[in-house]
Amino acid sequence: RASALQAEGHRFEPCRPHLIIAGWSSLVARRAHNPKVVGSNPSPATKETFKVSFFLLLFRILCSIVEKQDFCRSELKGVRMRVGILTSGGDCQALNATMRGVGKTLYNLLGDVEIYGFLDGYKGLIYDEYRKMERSDFSGILTEGGTILGTSRTPFKQIREPDANGLDKVEAMKHTYRKLRLDCLVVLGGNGSLKTANLLSEEGLNVIGCPKTIDNDLYGTDMTFGFYSAVQVATNAIDCIHTTAASHGRVFIVEIMGHKVGLLTLYAGLAGGADIILVPEIPYDINAVCKKIAERHAGGSRFSIVAIAEGAISKDESKLTKKELKKKLAEDRKNHPSVAYKLAKEIEEKTGAEVRVTVPGHTQRGGQPVPYDRVFATRIGAEAARMIKKEKYGVMLSLKNNEITTVPLADIAGKLKTVDPDSGIVKEAKMLGISFGDEE
Ligand code: F6P
Repeated sequence: RASALQAEGHRFEPCRPHLIIAGWSSLVARRAHNPKVVGSNPSPATKETFKVSFFLLLFRILCSIVEKQDFCRSELKGVRMRVGILTSGGDCQALNATMRGVGKTLYNLLGDVEIYGFLDGYKGLIYDEYRKMERSDFSGILTEGGTILGTSRTPFKQIREPDANGLDKVEAMKHTYRKLRLDCLVVLGGNGSLKTANLLSEEGLNVIGCPKTIDNDLYGTDMTFGFYSAVQVATNAIDCIHTTAASHGRVFIVEIMGHKVGLLTLYAGLAGGADIILVPEIPYDINAVCKKIAERHAGGSRFSIVAIAEGAISKDESKLTKKELKKKLAEDRKNHPSVAYKLAKEIEEKTGAEVRVTVPGHTQRGGQPVPYDRVFATRIGAEAARMIKKEKYGVMLSLKNNEITTVPLADIAGKLKTVDPDSGIVKEAKMLGISFGDEE
């Protein structure tokens, strides 16, 4: 077993000083017992030697027990853990911080570990593109945005479809995993990526998910890393808009990312002091939005700021079926680049106000992670490594009541966390006079 492992490149340390002592003691003991050497009537000196030899023999037995344990340990050490890691889907600010947490903790907890980083997300796993990472790869990246491994979108919907050359992507991923004899794959991803992670887990791979996305829309966790960094950028955009809006007496619409969920808009809107916050979970009525602007104007405010989620929909649109809505939005996009521009036109037409649109777009995913995300990502990474050591797989790390815990991937895959219109935060915002465009 040892030589087979050695042939595979595992290290064994043959240095056993206690064995040498033990060997010598056994020799002395044998000599002490040998009548040819000591005669039939041993002298007191020989008796003393015999006693010493007896204890040395005992020492030898103890040594062999220790030695046996040592071998087990070194055999375990020899079976190095091999961990794959990838970042998938849209990037965000604390991906590197999370990988650093995983890498550093793995080296600390396991010592002998090999980490393979797959390039550009699942693509790297499918097409066998990876690099063996070194300890140094995990240093100096805590504050770096983006991902040192690169990322890409590999839509879950198409994961079972063969690629352009007829390659079965799932089989290809399993093949790469097995070829590298991985013990585990760590996936840093959002909704779609974790659905694929769950699929791979069902296919028999050991997978651990880490909750990544600026949208914070992952079910089963209170928080995702990237969210607060994006809130910071979006808030900053609203802050900057405030001064120019006030100077010109204009209505400004700031469109915030979040895909179909409004959490990012809600938080940035509140933090930036927006007057109107429009999120997909609370469909808006254009008349209610215009009424709020008119009220502010009548009350002496020269400007109004609307924070709108990129996925916001009107009350009428919310009545459509999924298919109808998709068609309607595709039609709208022919006339307006995004929902903010459509809203701007409607407000201009109904109120006569001068309206401007700002779309911070991908800046929300860029730059350094804020301290909260650095801390959170580090904790997630450390706990992911601990799960690997415990060989607890098929789970996503999650934040619950400020503690990091795990939830089965199967329980969260494909489910969304959204803004609850009846939540305290929405009620509090409404008490403050912020309009969600739902009440006239
Ligand atoms: O999921 C993160 C996110 O930034 C969403 O908020 C946004 O809708 C989407 O990704 C944009 O994706 P892409 O970078 O592929 O255009």
